[in-house]
Amino acid sequence: RNTRRTIECRKDIDRLDAPFLAIYESLIPAEEEKAKQKQLLTLLEKLVCKHWPKAKLYLYGSCGNSFGVLKSDIDVCLAIDDPYLNKVVMLVKLAEILKSSNLQDVQALTRARVPIVKLMDPVTGISCDICVNNVLAVVNTKLLRDYAEIDGRLRQLAFLVKHWAKSRGVNETYQGTLSSYAYVLMCIHFLQLRNPPILPCLQRMKATYAVTVDNIECAFFDEVEKLRDFGARNNENISKLLWGFFHYWAYCHDYPNHVISVRHGYILRKQEKDWTRRVGNDRHLICIEDPFETSHDLGRVVDKRSIKVLREEFERAAEILQNDPNPCVTLFEPY
Ligand code: CTP
Ligand code: MG
Repeated sequence: RNTRRTIECRKDIDRLDAPFLAIYESLIPAEEEKAKQKQLLTLLEKLVCKHWPKAKLYLYGSCGNSFGVLKSDIDVCLAIDDPYLNKVVMLVKLAEILKSSNLQDVQALTRARVPIVKLMDPVTGISCDICVNNVLAVVNTKLLRDYAEIDGRLRQLAFLVKHWAKSRGVNETYQGTLSSYAYVLMCIHFLQLRNPPILPCLQRMKATYAVTVDNIECAFFDEVEKLRDFGARNNENISKLLWGFFHYWAYCHDYPNHVISVRHGYILRKQEKDWTRRVGNDRHLICIEDPFETSHDLGRVVDKRSIKVLREEFERAAEILQNDPNPCVTLFEPY
C-alpha cells in the first residue's frame, strides 16, 4: 500500500476551481427551504409547549450547523429540565400529541441508540426526527456552525466531501462507513493543519462560551466574527484543498497509530487514548475523536470490511483529483 506518499499536486489544479465551486453552489439550500424548516419548527413548538410549557426545541444536525445540503431532513432536540423524566414515556406521549395534529407518519422509535419520534409534515413536505435531551448534539452543532463562520472554505470543502460520500455510498453508519458529522470533523481538522492554518482550534482558545452537559464541560471561543481573517495568509483554493483532503486520507494518514482531534487541533497517538486494541465492538481502525465526548471514537462503526471500502474510496478520489481529465464529474459518479 502507498502510505505516506507525498506527490506534487497536478499543475492545472486551479482550472478546477470554478467547476467545483459551481457544484458547491448547486448544493446550497434555497432560502425558501429554510423558511419552511422554521415554519415546521414553530408548529412543533406550539404543540409541544401546550403539554410541556417549560420545554424548548432546538435544531441540531445539518439544518443547524450550516452543513445542510438541499432537501435535508431536520433534526430537533426537545430539551426539558426534569430529573424524573423518562425519555421513553415522554416520546410515546409526544408521538400521541403529534398524531392528533395534522402530521403524518408519526412513529416513536424508542429502542434506537438515540430514541426518537419521526414525522412528516404534509404542509412543508419536510421530514423530522425529534429526540429528547440530547443537549450535547446541540452544543456540537454550535461548534461546527461557529467553525463554518470563520472561513468560507470549510463549508465548500465539507459540502463537496459530503456530496462525494453520499454519491459513493460511504455515508452509511449502519453499513460501517462514516456519519456526516465525522466527515465534517475530518474537514475541520484538515483545515486546522494546513500551513499556514485556515482554521484555529476554538477549544484551545480563551473560552467565551461554556456549558456543562451530562457532566461534560464544553467550553470554547465563540466570538468568531473576530476571526474572519484568520485564514487570510493561506490562499489555497477549494480545488487544491479537496485534492489535499483526499491525498491526506489516501496516502498520508497513519491509520495504525493516529487519532485526529479537533479539540486539540493536532494529531494524537492511539496509545494516549488507549484506543490500540479492540474493545467490544470498537475496533478503532480509523480514529476520529468527538470534540466533547472525548471517549467517543466516531470511527467506531468502521469494521474490517468497511475500512477497506473507505480507504479504497479515498484512494480512488485522490487518484481522480490527481489524474482524471474531468474530476468534477468522475469524482461523484454513483458507485
Ligand atoms: N451526532 C453526534 N454524534 C454522532 C453522530 C451525530 O453527536 N456520532 C449529532 C451531531 O450533532 C450531528 C447530528 O447528530 O450534527 C446529525 O448527525 P448526522 O446526520 O451525521 O449529520 P448531518 O449534519 O445532519 O448530516 P446529513 O446532512 O447527512 O443529515
Ligand atoms: Mg441529519
